Amino acid sequence: MAGIAFASFAAVLFRVALAISDELAAELGYPAGVDVWCGKAYRSTNASFEPGGWLEAPKLSPVPLLDLSIRPRTNLYLANETYGSFIVDAPLSYMNGASFVNSTFNKQDNITSPFTELFIDIEVVESGIDLLSSRNVTINTTSNEFKFSLSRLSPRFEPYEVVITGAAIDGAQFYTATTQLYYLPARTDGGSVTKVDNLYGGLLVQDYLNNSTAWTPIFPYTFYVSWDGWLELSVDNLKVFKDQGYNIIHIVPNLALPNEAFDFDELDRFLDVMDEMELWLMFDMRWTYTNLTSVEYQVKRVNARKSMLLWYTGDEPDGHVDPLNATKITYDLIKSIDPWHPVSLCLNCLNYYFEEYTSGGDIIMSDLYPIAVNTSWSNQYNTECNTTYGCCGCDDCNGNFEDVSSRLDIYTEYQNILNLPQKPQWGVPQAFGNETFWSRYPSPEEELVMNMLFINHGAKGIAMWDWPTEPGIANITSALSKVLTSSTITSFLVGSFVTALDVSGLDRVDVTSWTVGKNMLVSVVNKNYIQSPNANVTIALPAIAARVGQVVWGGGWTVNGDGLGKVGLEALEVDIFILEML
Ligand SMILES: *[C@@H]1O[C@H](CO)[C@@H](O)[C@H](O)[C@H]1NC(C)=O
Ligand SMILES: *[C@@H]1O[C@H](CO)[C@@H](O)[C@H](O)[C@H]1NC(C)=O
Ligand SMILES: *[C@@H]1O[C@H](CO)[C@@H](O)[C@H](O)[C@H]1NC(C)=O
Ligand SMILES: *[C@@H]1O[C@H](CO)[C@@H](O)[C@H](O)[C@H]1NC(C)=O
Ligand SMILES: *[C@@H]1O[C@H](CO)[C@@H](O)[C@H](O)[C@H]1NC(C)=O
Ligand SMILES: *[C@@H]1O[C@H](CO)[C@@H](O)[C@H](O)[C@H]1NC(C)=O
Ligand SMILES: *[C@@H]1O[C@H](CO)[C@@H](O)[C@H](O)[C@H]1NC(C)=O
Ligand SMILES: *[C@@H]1O[C@H](CO)[C@@H](O)[C@H](O)[C@H]1NC(C)=O
Ligand SMILES: *[C@@H]1O[C@H](CO)[C@@H](O)[C@H](O)[C@H]1NC(C)=O
Ligand SMILES: *[C@@H]1O[C@H](CO)[C@@H](O)[C@H](O)[C@H]1NC(C)=O
Ligand SMILES: *[C@@H]1O[C@H](CO)[C@@H](O)[C@H](O)[C@H]1NC(C)=O
Ligand SMILES: *[C@@H]1O[C@H](CO)[C@@H](O)[C@H](O)[C@H]1NC(C)=O
Repeated sequence: MAGIAFASFAAVLFRVALAISDELAAELGYPAGVDVWCGKAYRSTNASFEPGGWLEAPKLSPVPLLDLSIRPRTNLYLANETYGSFIVDAPLSYMNGASFVNSTFNKQDNITSPFTELFIDIEVVESGIDLLSSRNVTINTTSNEFKFSLSRLSPRFEPYEVVITGAAIDGAQFYTATTQLYYLPARTDGGSVTKVDNLYGGLLVQDYLNNSTAWTPIFPYTFYVSWDGWLELSVDNLKVFKDQGYNIIHIVPNLALPNEAFDFDELDRFLDVMDEMELWLMFDMRWTYTNLTSVEYQVKRVNARKSMLLWYTGDEPDGHVDPLNATKITYDLIKSIDPWHPVSLCLNCLNYYFEEYTSGGDIIMSDLYPIAVNTSWSNQYNTECNTTYGCCGCDDCNGNFEDVSSRLDIYTEYQNILNLPQKPQWGVPQAFGNETFWSRYPSPEEELVMNMLFINHGAKGIAMWDWPTEPGIANITSALSKVLTSSTITSFLVGSFVTALDVSGLDRVDVTSWTVGKNMLVSVVNKNYIQSPNANVTIALPAIAARVGQVVWGGGWTVNGDGLGKVGLEALEVDIFILEML
C-alpha cells in the first residue's frame, strides 16, 4: 500500500483510524469504531460485514443498442489554437445505448433500407452555435475524428457544454450525447500546460527548453520518490535521478511536518533546478488533499512552474475509505485554480466505490503489489482475507502476475459499465519489499515483468513504489526507462491502441502490439518462473510482417508471414521489438 509501505506503518494506521468518522461509518452502513481497509474490517477483534460499494455489471440487453458518444480529442484547447477535434463513437453495445433497428424508410421513394449511417450535428448547448453539421458516422464504428473550428468560441475558464445529435436519414431513430469542451485562456504567467489525449490516453507537453510550441507526447516513467528520506538530502539528487533516465519525478511529501507537505521555500530550490532541466513534476498532496485550505495554497504555489506536469490527490482513497465525495471536491477546487494540468489519484481496492473515487481524477492509477505476499492469510493481523474481510496488502489478489494485468482490465471494464469515456490508467509496480505484508523485494526480472504487464494492458505511465529501491531494480528500470521514453517507443505507446496477440506453445505468455503506420511494436512477457527451453512458441499477427526491425529488449523472434516464432523462452523473459509490416 503506497501510504503504508512508505511512511511508518503505525503512522498511517493512526490516520486510518481517524479517517472513518462515525458519520461516514453510518452513511456506509458500517458499525462505528471499526478499522477498515477497502471497507473491510481487518482486525481479529472485529467481525466481517458487507463492505458494499461493489460495482456490478448490468443485465445485458438481448438486442444490440446504439451507444452514441462524443468527447474532445484533447481535454483542453488553448486560446490561440484555431482548430480542435471531436472523437465520435457509435458502437453497437449490449450494455449501454438506446434502441436500434437496422432499417430506415425513404419517403421519396417508399424504399426501406438498412440503417448504416448516422447523420450527426454537433452544437454548443447554451448558444446553439453549430460546430459541425451534415456529417455522418457509420453505425458500429468508433474513434471517428472530426476537426472543427474554434473561431466562433471565446476562450474562458468554464467548459462549453456540447451536444451531438445523430439520426437516421428518415429521422425516425434519434440519438443524443453530451460532452464538455475546455477552450481555455492562454497562460500569462509562464507556466506549462499539459494536455490529455482522449483518444490514446497519453499526455502531451511542450518542450519549453527548446521553446517548442508543438504538443509532444510523453510516456511518464518514474518512481514515487521519498522527499525527506532521499531527495531532500541534496539538490544534486535531481540530476542523479534524471540521469537514470526517468523523465518525471513524483515527490512524496513529508507527513512529519506540521503542514504534512513541504517546507515550500526549500522545495522551491529543487523546483528551480527541475525547471532548468525539464524534469517533470508529479505533485503529490496525499496527506492534505481533503484540506481545501491547504490544497488551495499548494496549487497556487506550484501550478505556474514550467516543470509542472500533473497533480496527485488521493493515495488509496478507497483503501483508507476517505469520504466518497472527497476526490471530486478537491478536483473541482484544483480545476478552478489550475485548469491547465490534469489530476491523478491511485486506487488500491479491487472493487470499492470505483465511480465515486475516480470521479475526482483525470488519470486513474492502481497500486497492487503481488510479490512475496500472502493474499489469503494476513500475516499482520492474523486473520483470513476474503472479499468481505481482512487486509493482506493486496486487495482481492491471488499473489501472482495476473493480478497486475487483470486489475487494469477490470478498471477498463468498470469504465465501460459506467458508460464513461476511458480515463487513462497508469501503473504502480511494486519496487519495495522486506516489510509488513511483503517478505522480500521483487527481483529485477519480476520488476520488469510487472512493469511490462501494466504497459501491455494499456498503462500510459508508470510510477513505481518507491525510491530509493534496491540496486538491481534501479539498474533494470533505468535501462527500461531509456527504452520507453525514447521518442520511437513512446510514439507507439501513446500513439495507438493496445492490441493483445494470441500465443500458442506456452501458457502464461502475455503479448501486446501497438501499430503506427507500417510498423508494429511488440512486447512479449513470459510470466513463468521456469525456463522452457523446448517450447515452440508462436504469436499470431493480424497482418503479414516483412521483417523484425529494431530490437530494444531481449529478442530472438523470427517472422513467418502472419506469425512470429521462437523456440525456448527464458524464465520471466521480456522481449520488445518493432516489426516492419508488409
Ligand atoms: C500560441 O501561442 C504561443 C506563444 O504563447 C506561440 O508560440 C504559438 O505559436 C501559438 N500557436 C498558434 C497555433 O498560434
Ligand atoms: C409512397 O406510399 C404512399 C402511401 O402508401 C403513397 O401515397 C405514395 O404515392 C408512395 N410514393 C411512391 C413514390 O411510391
Ligand atoms: C444492417 O443490415 C445490413 C443488410 O442486411 C447489414 O449489411 C448490416 O451489417 C446491418 N448492420 C447492423 C449494424 O446490424
Ligand atoms: C458520409 O460522409 C462522407 C464524407 O462526407 C460522404 O462521402 C458519404 O457519402 C456520406 N454517406 C452518406 C450515406 O451520406
Ligand atoms: C460491431 O462491431 C463489433 C466490434 O468490431 C463486432 O464484433 C460486431 O460483430 C459488430 N456488429 C455488427 C452487427 O456488425
Ligand atoms: C528560448 O527562448 C529564450 C528566450 O527568448 C532564449 O533565451 C533561448 O535561447 C531559447 N532557447 C532555444 C533552445 O532556442
Ligand atoms: C489545513 O491546512 C491548513 C494549512 O496548512 C492548516 O492550517 C490547518 O490546520 C489544516 N486543517 C486541518 C483540519 O488539518
Ligand atoms: C461530502 O460528503 C459528506 C458525507 O460523507 C457530507 O457531510 C458533505 O456535506 C459532502 N460535501 C459536499 C460538498 O457535498
Ligand atoms: C470472510 O472471512 C470472515 C472471517 O473468517 C468470514 O466471517 C466471512 O464469512 C468471509 N466472507 C466470505 C465472503 O467468505
Ligand atoms: C529486511 O529488513 C530488516 C529490518 O528492517 C533488515 O534488518 C534486513 O537487513 C532487511 N533485509 C534485506 C535483505 O534487505
Ligand atoms: C544492470 O543492467 C544491465 C542491463 O541493462 C545488466 O547488463 C547489468 O548486469 C546490470 N547490473 C547490475 C549490477 O545489476
Ligand atoms: C514450431 O511450430 C511451427 C508451427 O507449428 C512449425 O512450423 C515449426 O516447424 C516448429 N519448429 C520447431 C523447431 O519445432
